[in-house]
Amino acid sequence: MAGPRTFVAYAVPILLSLCADAFYLPGAAPHNYRQGEKVDLFVNALTPMLAGTDDAKLKSLINYDYYNPKFHFCEPEGGPKKQPESLGSILFGDRIFNSPYDIRMLENNGTCQTLCTVRDVPGEDAKFINDRIREDYALNWLIDGLPAAEMKVDLRTGDVFYDMGFNLGNDDEPYHETPALNNHYDIYIRYHSPSPDNYRVVGVLVWPSSHGGPQDGPVNCEEEAPPLILSETAPNMIRYTYRVTWNESDTPWATRWDNYLHIFDPRIHWFSLINSLVIVVFLCIMVSMILLRSVSRDISRYNAIDLSEDVQEDWGWKLVHGEVFRTPRYPMALSVLVGNGAQLCAMVAVTLVFALLGFLSPSNRGSLATVMMVCWTFFGGIGGYISSRVYASMGGTDKRKNSFITATILPTTIFAIIFLLNLFLLAAGSSGAVPFGTMLFIVILWFGISAPLSAIGSYFGSKHGAIQHPVRVNPIPRQIPPTPKYLRPWAATLLSGILPFGAAFVELYFVLSSLFASRAYYAFGFLALTAFVVALTTATVTILFTYFILCAEEYRWHWRAFLTGGGSAFWLLAYGFFYWLSRLSLDSFSSTVLYFGYLFLLCLFDFLITGTIGFLATYWAVRRLYSSIRID
Ligand SMILES: *[C@@H]1O[C@H](CO)[C@@H](O)[C@H](O)[C@H]1NC(C)=O
Ligand SMILES: *[C@@H]1O[C@H](CO)[C@@H](O)[C@H](O)[C@H]1NC(C)=O
Repeated sequence: MAGPRTFVAYAVPILLSLCADAFYLPGAAPHNYRQGEKVDLFVNALTPMLAGTDDAKLKSLINYDYYNPKFHFCEPEGGPKKQPESLGSILFGDRIFNSPYDIRMLENNGTCQTLCTVRDVPGEDAKFINDRIREDYALNWLIDGLPAAEMKVDLRTGDVFYDMGFNLGNDDEPYHETPALNNHYDIYIRYHSPSPDNYRVVGVLVWPSSHGGPQDGPVNCEEEAPPLILSETAPNMIRYTYRVTWNESDTPWATRWDNYLHIFDPRIHWFSLINSLVIVVFLCIMVSMILLRSVSRDISRYNAIDLSEDVQEDWGWKLVHGEVFRTPRYPMALSVLVGNGAQLCAMVAVTLVFALLGFLSPSNRGSLATVMMVCWTFFGGIGGYISSRVYASMGGTDKRKNSFITATILPTTIFAIIFLLNLFLLAAGSSGAVPFGTMLFIVILWFGISAPLSAIGSYFGSKHGAIQHPVRVNPIPRQIPPTPKYLRPWAATLLSGILPFGAAFVELYFVLSSLFASRAYYAFGFLALTAFVVALTTATVTILFTYFILCAEEYRWHWRAFLTGGGSAFWLLAYGFFYWLSRLSLDSFSSTVLYFGYLFLLCLFDFLITGTIGFLATYWAVRRLYSSIRID
C-alpha cells in the first residue's frame, strides 16, 4: 500500500520542483513580499463540493459567480474586477475577481476585523443562500495562486486532509432544516522566509464559522455565538468578519503544493489499480502469444498445403483473401471517424507527455485544458492526412468532400453540444456558461487554424495516395456463412470493450471526480500508464476479434474493427450511469442534463480514440497477415 502512495506523493512534486528549479513557468515565479506589503485575495466561482465522508454525494454541477447579487458578499470599492485567466481555466469554470479583504504581510496578526455589514438581504435571497448551503457549496479563494483549503478529517480512516475550498455554510445536524451561514473566516496563512524581509506564501487554510447574535455591536471573534440562521421570510443583516493569522513554516516555495496534492480519497485503493494493471498486462501478453502461435501455425500449414499438389483445400481466413480489402460500406464515414480519432489520439499522447514532465500541475490553473485545446487545434493536419489516406486506401474518390467533412464534423458537433449545455447553464443562472468572447475565440481557433491545417493534411494524404494491398480483390463477392453469436457485431463490441475498460476503471473514478467534483487531478504517471495499457489492450483485442471473424469467413472487418475497438466507450457510458446513481444526487434538471451532456462528450472521445486505435492496429495486422501467405 505504501509503495505507490509514496511514489505519487514524492515523484510528482520532485519532478515539479526539478522543473521549477530549472526555470520558472510564466506566472509561476515566486513572489517575495516585504513586511506590510498587500497580499491580494482573489475570489473564484462557488462550486458544489463533495463532503469528505464516504457516502457523500455531489448535489449539483452548477457554478455560481462569487459576486452573484443573490449572495450579497462584500464587494471591493469600485466594484469587482475580473482577473485575466487562461483559456483552459475559463472553460473549466474559473471566474476570478478581486476582493475587499485587506491583508498585509505579517500585519494584524490575530486581529478580528470587520469586512462589511450587509443590510437588507431579502427573504428570497436568503432562501437562495440556504439552498446553496444545503447543496454543499464551497467558496474558492486564491491567495498568491494558492487555493484556500479547509483541513478536514476523514471519518473513516481518521486521516487529516486538505480540501480545496471551504464551506459556504453548515447544514449538518442540528441545522439541517435551518442551515447556518458562515460569516466569519479564520484565515491561516503560512509563510516561508528564504532571506530576511523576504516572505513567501506557502499555504492558506481557512476555518469558516457562523456567528449569529446582534450583527452590529462591537466585534469579537472569540466570543461563543449562536449560529447565524437566515430568515427566509424577513430581511436579514449579515456582518462578515475575518481574522488573519500568520504562521511561519519550513515548507519552501517550490514544494508548497505538496500539501494540496496530498488529498486522497479514502476509497482510492492504489493497490487495486496496480493489481488491475498487472492483470491486464498479463492478459495482453497471453492474448498476443495465442495469436502469434496460431497464426504462425496457420501460415506454415497453408504454405505446406500449397506445396503438396493433391490437397487444394483452403480454409479459415485464407479463404477470404480475395475479399478482405474489398471497399467497406460508407468508406467516407469510416475514414472521417478514423481521421478525427487520430487527431484526438495525438492530442492525448502529447498532453500526457506534457503532464508527465510536470507542466500541467494544478498550480498552473487551467493549463491542462489549454494544452489540450492547443494540441488538438495544431494536430488538424494529422487528422486530415490519416483520413484522406484511409479513404483512398478504401477506394474512395470524393477527396474534397472527405477533406471538408474531416475538418468540420467534430468541431461542429462539440460546438453544438456545448452551446446547448450553455443554454441550460444560463437558464440556471450559473457562471459556468462559456462567455461569448471565449466562444468566438474557440471558433477562430478551430475553424481558422485547425480546419485549414486539416485541409493541408488531406492534400498531402491524397498526394501519398492509397496504401498498397498485398492481395487482389475478387471481382465477385463471396457468400458469407452465418457467424457464431459471440462474433455478431454488438456482442463482439461489448465483449471486447471489457478488457480496456477493466484496465481503466479505477483511474476513471479519479477522472470523473476531478471533472465533476472539482477535485484536483495530478496522478499523471498513473494516467499515462493506464492510457498506454488501454491502447495496448484495445489494439490486441481488436486484432484478436478480427482474426476470429476472418476465420469465420466474415470478411467485412473494417467497420467491425472500429466498433470493436470503440467497445470500451459503451462500458464507459454504463459506468457513467453507475457513477450518477452512486456518487451524485443532483437536485436540479439542469445539473442532470449537464452531467449527461459531458458524459456523452467523454464517451464520444473515447469511442473515436479507441476505435481508431483498434482500426489502425487491425489494418496493420491484416496487411501483415495476408502478405505472409503465398497465393497462386
Ligand atoms: C501570530 O499569532 C500566532 C498565535 O496567535 C503565533 O503563533 C504566530 O507566531 C504569530 N505570527 C507572527 C508573525 O507574529
Ligand atoms: C498556526 O499557529 C497556531 C499557534 O501556534 C496553531 O494553533 C495553528 O494550528 C497554526 N495553524 C496552522 C495552519 O499551522
